[in-house]
Amino acid sequence: MDRSADDHPWWERGVIYQIYPRSFADADGDGVGDLAGIIARLDHVAGLGVDAIWLSPIFPSPMADFGYDVADYCGVDPLFGTLAGFDRLVAAVHARGLKLLLDFVPNHSSDRHPWFVESRSSRDSPRRDWYIWRDPAPDGGPPNNWLSDFGGSAWTWDEGTEQYYLHAFLKEQPDLNWRERAVHAAMTAAMRFWLDRGLDGFRIDVLWHIVKAEGLPDNPPNPAWTTAVTERDRLLQRHSTDQPEAHAIAADFRALADDYGGRVLVGEIFLPNERLVKWYGTPERPGVHLPFNFQLIENPWDAGVLARAITDYEAALPPWGWPNWVIGSHDAPRIAARIGEAQARVAAMLILTLRGTPTLYQGDEIGIGRVDIPPDRMRDPQHHRQPTLDIGRDRSRTPMPWDASPEAGFTQGAEPWLPLNPDWPTRNVAAQASDPGSMLNLYRALLALRRAHDALSVGTIAVVAGEGDLLRFERRHGAMRLLVALNLGPRPIALGARGRVLLSTLGAGADAAVLRPDEGLILDLEMA
Ligand code: NOJ
Repeated sequence: MDRSADDHPWWERGVIYQIYPRSFADADGDGVGDLAGIIARLDHVAGLGVDAIWLSPIFPSPMADFGYDVADYCGVDPLFGTLAGFDRLVAAVHARGLKLLLDFVPNHSSDRHPWFVESRSSRDSPRRDWYIWRDPAPDGGPPNNWLSDFGGSAWTWDEGTEQYYLHAFLKEQPDLNWRERAVHAAMTAAMRFWLDRGLDGFRIDVLWHIVKAEGLPDNPPNPAWTTAVTERDRLLQRHSTDQPEAHAIAADFRALADDYGGRVLVGEIFLPNERLVKWYGTPERPGVHLPFNFQLIENPWDAGVLARAITDYEAALPPWGWPNWVIGSHDAPRIAARIGEAQARVAAMLILTLRGTPTLYQGDEIGIGRVDIPPDRMRDPQHHRQPTLDIGRDRSRTPMPWDASPEAGFTQGAEPWLPLNPDWPTRNVAAQASDPGSMLNLYRALLALRRAHDALSVGTIAVVAGEGDLLRFERRHGAMRLLVALNLGPRPIALGARGRVLLSTLGAGADAAVLRPDEGLILDLEMA
């Protein structure tokens, strides 16, 4: 007997929606989104039909990396609100039957965090070893060849104490030393702080980075590197990431989440399948519930490639590992910008019908496409450090357009911190809510269908195939068999299926025999 969706925990049957707080809704008129803005727009999230919200960082921060540089792990930046405002958000989210996850950034703090200020104050500081300090190499240069993910050396020289400190990202984001037990204890206390306030879990930033190999050996060169990709990729991050000790820390985080009675951990991890799935841990010592699977973002939009990616990922999962899929984020180009609006509708159907927990990104539900940001308004440090590579993330972080009022209803006051999508007068939540054929209503219909059919939320996946532009698979639960057939191209495809159409990405006129160009279909095969 297949277990019904109700017998699965929420994070298996449910859908996660990422909110980037700076860009969701601004209640206080300073041009930057905030917690009160999120509360005011929660009906949109609940009405979409998702189950949980993951909030990118809201902690006090100098914002060198827009919140991923945390200066206090137990507070709320005044830009976003207050702790009392956070408590109101938790209550409002729970009142709608939703869950709330916060970003947790354990690999690095801000260089303004009091821990780092103290650590850098003297070589004898009691907190010196909370961060990773080393003497220069014999030639006076950095201690090893490691590179920052944002380009350049991963080491910065500190004049005051005449040593280098390590930072996997900006120099304003020094890496914490997780081999120091006191760091572990302090960060655990920070997690408890939020769990005690009723938080339902965390998305853990760059989890696979948090421990470095003993002795910090040089990383080997990457033979596949070219100047067209980021400088970071010049080396393989063999010794700076994915160390066995980091798995033990993930298991400690999990034990803490379990102690709180089923709080949930999502790990941000970029690794190939065989190493990614290790982050589930073992049944005796589980790791994170959901190690993020970014393959829909990383793979070309090609039916054969995607079919193989789905099959390989499914095959790599341990029996206790629940799958998950991500379609967009504040770090990746928007899906509609990458594959076009017509295919973004197909992508919506794909992520909401694959087996596993989907993570959706704000704005994709209305199909925001490529937004060109004038150079003088670009804010992302990743852009500013490597401007020629066109890897700035601002284009995916533009404010949510809510309606056709000034500034799209995002803010009542100042100019938004990033420009709006240029088509906001027509591409906004209110306009799409009243258009039955809109992307928003497609998302709502897909989410409702997923909730209505256990085959879609918790069923098995079978007969995954990709041929030409056709990607197809079945979802099964009990006696139910659903066929998902997706046309990834601009020409009709003879499908020759028999079944009742439950949903088409193109609305009326669907036919189980032939897929129209850019059409995705969900068919009930038992109802043939
Ligand atoms: C991953 C986050 O998603 C990204 O936005 C950030 O820049 C890096 N981690 C560093 O924290």
